[in-house]
Amino acid sequence: MLSARGRKLIETPPNVLLVGFNLWDKNRYDKDSNPTGIINLVTSENKLVFDVLKNKINEEGMFEDMPEEYSQYFGGLQRFNQLVAEFLTERMKTVKPIDAANIVSMNGVTSIVAALVQVICDEGDSILIPTPFYSGFLGDLGVIPRVKACPVHLSSQCGLSRNSWELTVDALEEALVQAKKEGANVRALLLTTPNNPLGCVYSREQLVSYMNFTKRHNLHCIVDEIYMMTVFDETIEHVSALSIEHPPDPERLHVLWGFSKDFAVSGFRSGVVLTESRDVLEALNQMGLFFSQSTLALWLLSKLLSDKDWLDRVYFPTNRVRLRAHYDLMTRFLDSMSIPYVATGTGLYVWCDLSRYMREKTFEEEDRVWKALLKAGVLVAPGVGFMCAEPGWFRIIFSIPNDSLEVAFERMRSCLCELTESECGMFDQVLSVPAVEEDLASAVVSVSVAGQSEGTDESLEDLVLLLKRKIAETDWLEQQTAALNESKSDGHGQ
Ligand SMILES: Cc1ncc(COP(=O)(O)O)c(C=O)c1O
Repeated sequence: MLSARGRKLIETPPNVLLVGFNLWDKNRYDKDSNPTGIINLVTSENKLVFDVLKNKINEEGMFEDMPEEYSQYFGGLQRFNQLVAEFLTERMKTVKPIDAANIVSMNGVTSIVAALVQVICDEGDSILIPTPFYSGFLGDLGVIPRVKACPVHLSSQCGLSRNSWELTVDALEEALVQAKKEGANVRALLLTTPNNPLGCVYSREQLVSYMNFTKRHNLHCIVDEIYMMTVFDETIEHVSALSIEHPPDPERLHVLWGFSKDFAVSGFRSGVVLTESRDVLEALNQMGLFFSQSTLALWLLSKLLSDKDWLDRVYFPTNRVRLRAHYDLMTRFLDSMSIPYVATGTGLYVWCDLSRYMREKTFEEEDRVWKALLKAGVLVAPGVGFMCAEPGWFRIIFSIPNDSLEVAFERMRSCLCELTESECGMFDQVLSVPAVEEDLASAVVSVSVAGQSEGTDESLEDLVLLLKRKIAETDWLEQQTAALNESKSDGHGQ
């Protein structure tokens, strides 16, 4: 019945984040009507400033003179693009004023990515994306353009010692070589700053080095800055790609931004691409018809953009203070549980390491922790959903109302403590029983010899992991427990 394209769409398994989202959707937490429902800490939405926005939208005269026409035909679109150009020129601190003619606006950055990729890539081409990356890119590239995402794998260990998950030019070069070896026709690099899910921002020097890389290899450089204003730590500076003087290849630089995150209105559906390439602009404008925005949304957004005083004195300061407070709540919770995380001051989420609740560092174990949390009523995002190469990392949203966040913390605390007690805790007990210390020591030695080459400088953590795996694979623990119980009943253990 379906075309090959249609069949592929229904045969492609959904991303784990979507699976979780659908489960939450059927059983949403509400403190009054569904107190045992699932709390969503997956969807990257800002739920902290709706009251401020609502007050503004309810102001008198907000809808006066609203046009009724198709948005892509009436002059309002030009007016909207002009307001966006002025707003972004100021907030991105661009080298020169943005010309509204260099903007194409569509119904969300999702559509912008899909449209842009279609006009710079052919079906089957590839785009380099550092992982972990926002999982929506897979759909943006795959569903309509049928372009592949080529991962540039980062890890908690990579980068200059201090800076884990750092994207280096070496990593880009290696990924490109590897992609070419596998037959990929790489057309572009897609960067996100501030990053989702890591939260890091790229420095001016980093951006220049990535742009030099793309120029060297004749690649387009797409920079998604959708979280540009979602920076609540004053010591952190978001550097826009458009603030860089003399970008190496301006014709192939395309910067994306949207209202979903910075204006907390993901349902309005509005995003833009800024580019100097006449060809790209022209081709994108041909696609506008299919991705046009609601007149109502454009009208309201234009009103918000026009009130600079409200933006600077009310909206953005309130947003920053509330995000900061919720980030602090989240990091205090993680600290109290000794859970490591990447400390940032951006975004709506924290990227943290739950691997201590796993019996070994595998994606099966990551899935087990994810499911345990889900069973406890908290939906978080496992790293596998972001194509992360290293198991154990999760992205957890903090931009939800206080009372729900507190309930989520309680649920997570008891779930994770239970995991510790039933899994790792048992292991800790074994470690603390003197009678088995000798056995343990010899087990560590034999595991290390059997599992890894002798004389390597594995960390204690690696050895412990190997030992846990060995215990899980054999009946060593049962034997020791039986021996212990016997000696206890003998009176020897007292
Ligand atoms: C990095 C990034 N880009 C794009 C999007 C999609 O944005 P929009 O709501 O404008 O489609 C998201 C949404 O989570 C995102 O995190």
